[in-house]
Amino acid sequence: MTAGLHLAQEWWPAEGAEPPRWVLTLENRGDTALEGFTLCWTGHCKLDPAHPLENAQLLRRVSNFTEVAMPGGALAARAAWRFTVRAINVPLRHWSEAAQAAYLVLADGTTADVTVELCRPGGTAPGTPVLGLAQAEGGRLDDGLALVPWPHHVVAEGATTPPPGLSVNPEGDFAALCALLFPGEQLVDPAGIPVALESADLPEEAYHLHFAGGQARIAAGGPSGHLYGQIALAQLLRAARADPASCRFPARLTIEDAPEHGWRGTHLDVARQYYPPDELARFIATLAWNRINRFHLHLTDDEAWRFELPAYPELTARGAWRGHGLAIPPLLGSGAARHGGAYSRAELAALVALAGRFGITVVPEIDVPGHCFAALAALPWLRDPGETGEYWSIQAFPNNSLNPAVPAMLPFVEAAFGELLDIFPGKWVHVGADEVPHDAWTTSPLATGRAAPALQAGVLRHLHAMLRAAGRVTTAWEEGSLGGGITPEAALLIAWQSPASAPPLAAAGYDVVVAPAQHYYLNMALDPGWWEPGASWAGWSSIAATYQFDPAALFTSGATGRLAGVQCCIWSEQLHDRRVFRRLVFPRLSAVAETGWTAPARKDWRRFAAASRFMPVPGAAL
Ligand code: ACM
Repeated sequence: MTAGLHLAQEWWPAEGAEPPRWVLTLENRGDTALEGFTLCWTGHCKLDPAHPLENAQLLRRVSNFTEVAMPGGALAARAAWRFTVRAINVPLRHWSEAAQAAYLVLADGTTADVTVELCRPGGTAPGTPVLGLAQAEGGRLDDGLALVPWPHHVVAEGATTPPPGLSVNPEGDFAALCALLFPGEQLVDPAGIPVALESADLPEEAYHLHFAGGQARIAAGGPSGHLYGQIALAQLLRAARADPASCRFPARLTIEDAPEHGWRGTHLDVARQYYPPDELARFIATLAWNRINRFHLHLTDDEAWRFELPAYPELTARGAWRGHGLAIPPLLGSGAARHGGAYSRAELAALVALAGRFGITVVPEIDVPGHCFAALAALPWLRDPGETGEYWSIQAFPNNSLNPAVPAMLPFVEAAFGELLDIFPGKWVHVGADEVPHDAWTTSPLATGRAAPALQAGVLRHLHAMLRAAGRVTTAWEEGSLGGGITPEAALLIAWQSPASAPPLAAAGYDVVVAPAQHYYLNMALDPGWWEPGASWAGWSSIAATYQFDPAALFTSGATGRLAGVQCCIWSEQLHDRRVFRRLVFPRLSAVAETGWTAPARKDWRRFAAASRFMPVPGAAL
């Protein structure tokens, strides 16, 4: 047992011809000298192995996992070892991009935890990360109606004492939603407003709500519209209870409402960090409160394969876990201890059923053929045994792409998607297709002579045919179009690299969801300040900037017919601390939800800023 190990870090940006410096200092604060040890750390940034370290020797780098040795290998008691990294993948702009967890591997092969001090700008004192909930500034509710997303048409008169709740079916979908989101609030109460749910010839998600004389009627074409009408009443009720000075529960109310866009999505990366099923259930409920109707579940990536595939038990036995000595090393803020998890078929089916009750289709993603380091670590026989060289993904994983020239590859991929088709009944199945390295498979004898884009397109063509035959719509990141892999019929692409990505895809005939990293990747920081958490590779986006981004404005008139909607994406690399998750995701998630639901002319930043205070944030102190 070794106590008193501490890692400090400073970031010095480039200055003139002087390259940037990341200076790390391991302090041995204990009474025992250390010999023959190595230091390992994980975080978000990746160092460049082509550049030597100063005063340290690089032993291993797999993405953001780094193992180094101290020259001479001996650190005396109460002594420190300082070394410098000169080259990393992107300049650091926030503390959360640097090392988050560290440990030593001792001479006897055991490990010892190292406490990590958050990285600070060079020459400054240790600081405090900003971890509180983000709030939109400058809000005002002129009419006292705290509704998010804002409806298409609303007329409210007068004000009454907020009722004790809504008198609705205690076994119904709305009651189930409230039980998950607001268990202590009694929003469903037999002494509350009677709510009649009526059928009407309206589109699936539209609703007409009338409230007068203490009674409510909600007319809708289907269950989503009924749910949305009840949520609208409950939003007014909660806000009027919480802040009677600025919010009102009207005496008479008419809302006629329908969404601007059919696809109002949220993506969650459950590969980089594991989210237990009960946390996902609360998250799905939160999406419903925002009238989001697509939950894009990113189930696999380089760091983990998260769903059980009975024919390939190793896939999750090995591929869902990372840690010291495992097939997948510690990564992204986890240390030596085994870390991870996988979803069973029953757990996923329960989430699909829950989402369905709340008007949400779960869109499952297996990301192929790139982003498959975990699958290949679990099933190494999927590699070409003759492959000699190394290629690196943008996230610095070696040889991370399923090789289409390996005969066992297609049966594996078909089995994986076959399982998805069984578990997820929704129309859309996502095949990934992003970020395959251009030089993938170049040293694979089986693949010789065929370029990566052509090989990738072949796999995607095959999957597209399989999904079409099953009556599904092939969904993919924008790279799915490369080389004619996924053709426009029965396909939908998510335009992520920039706002400019979407219009050419639409012009080529694809249905397109707009999700530009610069505004809709909610893992990007809110602000350029160092002590803000978040990624910076696509810049930063304030709540207001995310709210004000207008997807329709990207398209010249007449071309918006292919605009299916909008989606925010929550990539989890830096989200191992749920305080960081909450700060980055809320209320920007509601900002995207309002853009998806509300016509541009009816959006209003000041109103949104005030009303978004009342939206649920799962896990936050009430
Ligand atoms: C992506 O961000 N690689 C879709």
